[in-house]
Amino acid sequence: MKICELTYEDLVQNRTEIYQLFRESYSENFDANDLEITLLIKQRYQNLLEFVRDGSAICLGACANGKLCGILWAYERKLMGERRIHITDIAVCKPCRKSGLGSSLIEKLKQISRERGVSLIDLLVTQTNKNSIEFYFNKGFITERLQMVLKI
Ligand SMILES: CC(C)(COP(=O)(O)OP(=O)(O)OC[C@H]1O[C@@H](n2cnc3c(N)ncnc32)[C@H](O)[C@@H]1OP(=O)(O)O)[C@@H](O)C(=O)NCCC(=O)NCCS
Repeated sequence: MKICELTYEDLVQNRTEIYQLFRESYSENFDANDLEITLLIKQRYQNLLEFVRDGSAICLGACANGKLCGILWAYERKLMGERRIHITDIAVCKPCRKSGLGSSLIEKLKQISRERGVSLIDLLVTQTNKNSIEFYFNKGFITERLQMVLKI
């Protein structure tokens, strides 16, 4: 298994794999139909291309047997003057889960963050996504704020 930073060209070459990774992830995280998920994937993939091209995104890939099996997309932001790395997406393809790819992606992001002098990584996760929440807790993430909604 290999973790590497993905270039614009890598993203274009691996479009099918990235669409599939996003599809699996968004289906688990959003209560939406196939069409809505497909539109979201297209939009996010375009954003990712744009942000990798302008250098604002950190995009990591996990490759196994020469195939892209996992992706992590993050960017640096400031909150109340504090620099943070925000994870927009992390996804590992279903057959490769529970074999350390997700952990390796997080480790690599921690290394990049330290090199930039940033000491905080944050993300949003869907309340029903118990697997991922457990994964984050086991990595040492803590809950900082809760996003609440009211159906009216
Ligand atoms: C969250 C996610 C990225 C984790 O990726 P992963 O590759 O399965 O992560 P790892 O294999 O490193 O770790 C997962 C678990 O497998 C365990 N594991 C790691 N290597 C293992 C091995 N060789 N054998 C058995 N278990 C192993 C880890 O201890 C970990 O357990 P934990 O979650 O209880 O801490 C993945 O589940 C995923 O893609 N989910 C869908 C997308 C999603 O919802 N993303 C989050 C959006 S916020």
